[in-house]
Formats: sequence, structure tokens, C-alpha cells
Amino acid sequence: MTKETVLSHLQGHPWAEHLIVLATVGSTNQYLKELAAAGAPHGTVVIADHQSAGRGRLGRSFLSPKGQGLYLSVLLRQKPDLRLTPMAAVAVRRAILQETGLAPQIKWINDLVCGGKKLCGILTELCGDAIIVGIGINCSGIAHEAATSLEVLGAAFDRSRLAAQVIDQLSQMSPAQMQEYKTHCLTIGQDVQLHQNGTMRLAHVDDMDEEGALLVTLEDGTKERIFSGEVSVRGMYGYV
Ligand code: BTN
Repeated sequence: MTKETVLSHLQGHPWAEHLIVLATVGSTNQYLKELAAAGAPHGTVVIADHQSAGRGRLGRSFLSPKGQGLYLSVLLRQKPDLRLTPMAAVAVRRAILQETGLAPQIKWINDLVCGGKKLCGILTELCGDAIIVGIGINCSGIAHEAATSLEVLGAAFDRSRLAAQVIDQLSQMSPAQMQEYKTHCLTIGQDVQLHQNGTMRLAHVDDMDEEGALLVTLEDGTKERIFSGEVSVRGMYGYV
């Protein structure tokens, strides 16, 4: 995957102008944060073939072996919006469906899942008046209890085309897609473990509201609105 191969699928796209493709980087999100601070415009995209310090949600790392994933970040200059991570999940799901025929489910709030294993993670970060949306898709090589890849799932794909499709779908994100998120979100309607601030509680997920927060009923019948933390679903990532 090179800048040229990605651009060949982005002819005339408004975000094609500010595409950066790197062989290796610590984290595309971190790299783009620095560009954002230096004034990079809306729609700047950074892709790397390898990340030595790929970052995940909740302070976790995101394993990013060379040539085996799509590690991509995009800079948005717009008002912060809690719906951006769910909207990005819908965008990347659409791109994967379009390019591979696979139809991932969404595990709230930021994972795309196939066969109960993680295929893609999304990390949205605020940086002054800029927002960085980072996408990590496992393309090949990864197969263990918790994660899978396009290759392991038997999907044919071209990383450059997939990158271009992800960029195009991200450029078309809209709050109108929240209903699509709910349609494919496997967390809604499940009994889950809520992990927040070092505690674990059991709950049932009743619904998701229009901002992307989960509406849950706790064991004692109390209702709560959840917009952060980890929500573990039975049978997912080895949690049974
Ligand atoms: C998660 O699973 O919690 C989110 C993972 C996000 C990984 C992507 S890879 C490209 C971008 N750069 C990073 O350091 N992280 C995101």
C-alpha cells in the first residue's frame, strides 16, 4: 500500500489532497494530533503500514504489526459530538461490507466484531478544536480468542481500496446513521458486565439513546445512562 495506490481509488475526492502514507509511526492518532496543532486542515488523513505504539481506548495498546492491518486516522475540524465514534463505526462497517462482503456487528461503542471476535477498533480523541478519529482494522495474521482478521475470515480484499473506501465513508458520516448503528449493535438487548472506574456491575442493556449512550437496568432495578467504560457481552472476546 502506497500513497499512489490509495489515491488511485480516491480520484477527485476532497480528502485526497491531504493524504499522508507512512511506512512506520508510533501512532497515527498521535502523529495527526501534532499535525493538527500545527494547523492541518479538516480531512487530513494519515495511514501507516506499521505502528510501534498503537493506542486503543481506555489506555490500552493496539497491536499493529507491519503490513497486517489498516491503521488510519482522520482529522475533523468540527464541534465535539459524542456520536462521532458510533458514526465512524457505521462508516467503517459500510466500507468493510462494500469491499469484502463481510457484515460485521458493532460492540458498543467502538468495536467491529465478526464471529464474536474483534475485527476493528476505533479511537476518537479530542485535541484542542480538532477531533482525531483513528481506525484499526485487522487485515491479516491475527487469530486468537479475542481477535480475528479479514484474512482469517476468508475475505478477499485490497488494503488500498479498503483504505480509500474507509476514507470516503468517513467523509460522509452523518447523525442520520445512528439508526443504522442500533440495527447492527449486538450490545443492545444483552445482559452485560459494566466495567467502570475499577468496579464491575451486572446490567441489562435496554436501548441506546440518540447520543449513543446505553440505557441500562442494573440488578437492583435502577436505570442508568452509560456513556463510558467497558461493556462486556457474554460470549464475546472470551467472556462467557
Ligand atoms: C480500541 O480498540 O480500543 C481502539 C483501537 C484504535 C486503533 C487505531 S489504529 C490507528 C489509530 N492510531 C492509534 O494509535 N490508534 C488508532
